[in-house]
Amino acid sequence: MGHAPARQLARHSGDLYWKEDEEAVRRHRRRRRKQIRHQLGCLGFLVAALTAWAAGPTAPFSHKIHAPLKLNCAFCHSGAAKAERAGFPKATTCRTCHTSFPDDAKFPAQRVYRLADYVFFSHASHVNAKVDCARCHGPVNERPVLTKEVDHTMKACVDCHKEHKATVVCTACHELGQ
Ligand code: HEC
Ligand code: HEC
Ligand code: HEC
Ligand code: HEC
Ligand code: HEC
Repeated sequence: MGHAPARQLARHSGDLYWKEDEEAVRRHRRRRRKQIRHQLGCLGFLVAALTAWAAGPTAPFSHKIHAPLKLNCAFCHSGAAKAERAGFPKATTCRTCHTSFPDDAKFPAQRVYRLADYVFFSHASHVNAKVDCARCHGPVNERPVLTKEVDHTMKACVDCHKEHKATVVCTACHELGQ
């Protein structure tokens, strides 16, 4: 026992309170570690937020955050009611409210719904038939991030067409010969 560690020496000294002291030190360390973790967490969040902002083009857009403003979908997806494609907003649309929004920002960061090229689809004909956006895209305004939560398979299209007595002839959705 020539090189007994300090702990053992302390125990040998017969200090009855040593165990309690050690427990107190442990408690303090645990608290401190928790504090540090918390501070690092906050810092991490701040760094992530600043990076997202500085990156501009990839700045995340949340439909949920904007939902209380009750904007019309067409304010940002201007083709939704009258064209084949609903389309995406430009940075200038965002700048109506976020005056310092970067000019070079581009949307979308990534596409969610995309049909194969051999399928015809038009937003206008569905909006004219009073099919709700939510029927094909889910509760968009409740989502901070959109994911593909509604199936756009041929079966899904055809089932609804039957339900609405809309056309199911192949050439309505596909070019003849393809
Ligand atoms: C009948 C189903 C249906 C309805 C209703 C519908 N969409 Fe879509 N939406 C689609 C499909 C399918 C695509 C993918 C189109 C493609 O890839 O050609 C799409 C794509 C989009 C896109 C991506 C950009 C684009 O134009 O391709 C946006 C934005 C969009 N829809 C918004 C809306 C909004 C806003 C409404 C309501 C006004 C709406 N959609 C109603 C089926 C629908
Ligand atoms: C009609 C006004 C308006 C338009 C247009 C608008 N926003 Fe916003 N945006 C707001 C408001 C209000 C908030 C919420 C601010 C808050 O609560 O701190 C917000 C919040 C945000 C946030 C979150 C900031 C944060 O504090 O986390 C981002 C990112 C954002 N908007 C991006 C965009 C983008 C991208 C566009 C364009 C596609 C856009 N906004 C268009 C009003 C608008
Ligand atoms: C203030 C602008 C704004 C409004 C209002 C808005 N959107 Fe969007 N929307 C966006 C932006 C920006 C994106 C692209 C997000 C990204 O970069 O990934 C988007 C993406 C989408 C997409 C994903 C399209 C795809 O295939 O990639 C759908 C679907 C959509 N929006 C539907 C709606 C519907 C439905 C409404 C109305 C309830 C609506 N949006 C209102 C700005 C808006
Ligand atoms: C929620 C129901 C619904 C879904 C889902 C749906 N449609 Fe439709 N579709 C309709 C209705 C209703 C009409 C309008 C019929 C009319 O005006 O006579 C229509 C019209 C069309 C038309 C125009 C047909 C014509 O001759 O004018 C095409 C093309 C079409 N849909 C393709 C699609 C495709 C592709 C999908 C799947 C990605 C799809 N639809 C999903 C309900 C739906
Ligand atoms: C209402 C629209 C609609 C009608 C009507 C329709 N299709 Fe489709 N079809 C689609 C869509 C949407 C897809 C793409 C599905 C996907 O990407 O998963 C598709 C895909 C296909 C494919 C590729 C299948 C695969 O598994 O890759 C073939 C082949 C096809 N359709 C043939 C037909 C034939 C034949 C008819 C007539 C009997 C028909 N379609 C009618 C919408 C339609």
